[in-house]
Amino acid sequence: MIPSLDPNSSHPTMTDESLPLQGWVQGLRGNNHVQFLQLRTNGKILQVVCEKESLGEDLFKQIKSLPQETSLIVNGKWQENEKAPGGQELSLSSFTIVGASSDYPITPKEHGPDFLHNHRHLWLRSKRQLAIQRVRSELSFAIREFFRNDGYTLIDTPILTGSIGESAGTLFSTEYFDLGQAYLAQTGQLYLETAAFAHSKVYCFGPTFRAEKSKTKRHLTEFWMLEAETAFLGQNENLALQERFVKSVLKTTIERTKEDLKTLERDPLTLLQTLEKPFPRVEYGDAIQILKDAGENIEWGEDINAEREQILTTHFGTAIFIQNFPRAIKAFYMKQNPNDPRTVLSADLIAPDGIGEIIGGSEREESYDKIVERLKEEGLPPEDYFWYLDLRKYGSVPHAGFGMGLERVIAWVCGLPHIRECIPFPRMIYRLTP
Ligand code: 4AD
Ligand code: MG
Repeated sequence: MIPSLDPNSSHPTMTDESLPLQGWVQGLRGNNHVQFLQLRTNGKILQVVCEKESLGEDLFKQIKSLPQETSLIVNGKWQENEKAPGGQELSLSSFTIVGASSDYPITPKEHGPDFLHNHRHLWLRSKRQLAIQRVRSELSFAIREFFRNDGYTLIDTPILTGSIGESAGTLFSTEYFDLGQAYLAQTGQLYLETAAFAHSKVYCFGPTFRAEKSKTKRHLTEFWMLEAETAFLGQNENLALQERFVKSVLKTTIERTKEDLKTLERDPLTLLQTLEKPFPRVEYGDAIQILKDAGENIEWGEDINAEREQILTTHFGTAIFIQNFPRAIKAFYMKQNPNDPRTVLSADLIAPDGIGEIIGGSEREESYDKIVERLKEEGLPPEDYFWYLDLRKYGSVPHAGFGMGLERVIAWVCGLPHIRECIPFPRMIYRLTP
C-alpha cells in the first residue's frame, strides 16, 4: 500500500498499493541482516525496511552504503509495525537512485548554530526544521482563514514606499530613479487604514523590514507581520478582537500540528491553558508600579524592555495586554487618550515564556491637526503624508488596528528560544546568506 500524505499528519496512512515512493535518504541504521532506511518524502519521514534475506547480498550491500541525502525511488509493500513512525513501514523490494550525494555536511552529530545557519539551505531538510516550517505554514493558513471567516478583505500593501511608516530609526532605503529615496515597508498600516475606509474591515499579511541594529533573540531585519484594520472600532473592541484572534489561530494551529509539536518536544498543554485564561488589560502606569515593587529601577515614561515584560507576564501568570503607553514613546498615528492626554490609546500584547511583545496596536488619531502636530514633533514632513491625512478630511471615523509578528508567535507555539529558526531564511544584522 502507499501512504496518502495527509497534511494534518506527520505520518502516512495506507490507502493504495501501487505507486512507488520518491524521496531522500534521511538516515540509515540497522545491522548485517536488516537496515532501516528513513526516507523523506513530501516533508515526512517514512521507515523503509530492507532485509538481506529477501533482497539478496548485493542489493543489501548497496543499500547499507547509501550516503545520506541520496535521492531515490523505492518500491515495496506496506506493513504494520507499531514501532515505525505512524505504525507502518515499507518493506523494500527494489529501488533506483535518482541523484547521488556524498559528504553531506549536516550529520547526526551536534553542530553549532552558526554552522547550521551557514547551511540553512540544507538544514531545512532536518527533522526539527521540517516540523517548524510546517507549524509556520499551518499558522499562516489559520490566520487567513480567521480573517476571511470574520468578513475581512485582504489588501496587499506595497513594500516600496515613499514615506516612513513607523519610525525613522530602523529604515532600509534605496535610490528610486528620479524620485529620491524609497523605503522598505516597516508596516502596511498606513495603506491599510486607507483601505479600511473603502472596505471597513481589512487585513494584510506580508514581509516587513526593520534595520534593527540590535542582536536579540526576537528581532529579525525581515519578518512577517499580520496587520488588521477596522473602521468604527475603538480601543476596547480592538483588544477583544486581538484576544479572540490569537486564541483562535493558536488553538487551530496546535490542533493541526500535534505530531510536529511532539517532534519539537513541545507539550502544548501549558500553552493551551494560557489560552483558556482571559488576558488581563494592565494600564501602563500600573505595569510601571508593579516593576518598581519588584525592585526595578524604572520611571513613568520609559519603554518596557524584554526582561521587564517577562517580569510582568510572570506576575500575572499569563499573556497580558499593557495599554495606554506614554504618547512620547509611541508612533505618531496613535490616538491621544481623552482621559489622560499624556498617553495614547495603544496596547501591546505580551506573551509569556520569555516571548515578549507579539502584538502592537492602537486606536488611530482622527484629528487632522493632532496628527500634523505629531508628525512635526517626529521630524516627518506632513506633505509626504497628504494621502494619509486625506482620510481625516473625507469622512473620518474612529478606527483601530494591530500588527502581529509571525515569527515570535511561531517561537511561542514551538517553544523555541530564538526566532531565527522560525523563518526559512533569516535576515539579521550579521546574516544575509544563504
Ligand atoms: O509594534 P510594531 O512596531 O507595530 C506596527 O508596526 C504597527 N504599525 C502595527 C499595526 O498597528 N498595524 O510591530 C508589530 C509586531 C510586534 O509586536 C512584533 O511582534 C513584531 O511586529 N515585530 C518584529 N518581529 C521580528 N523582528 C522585528 N524586528 C520586529 N519588529 C516588530
Ligand atoms: Mg511595538
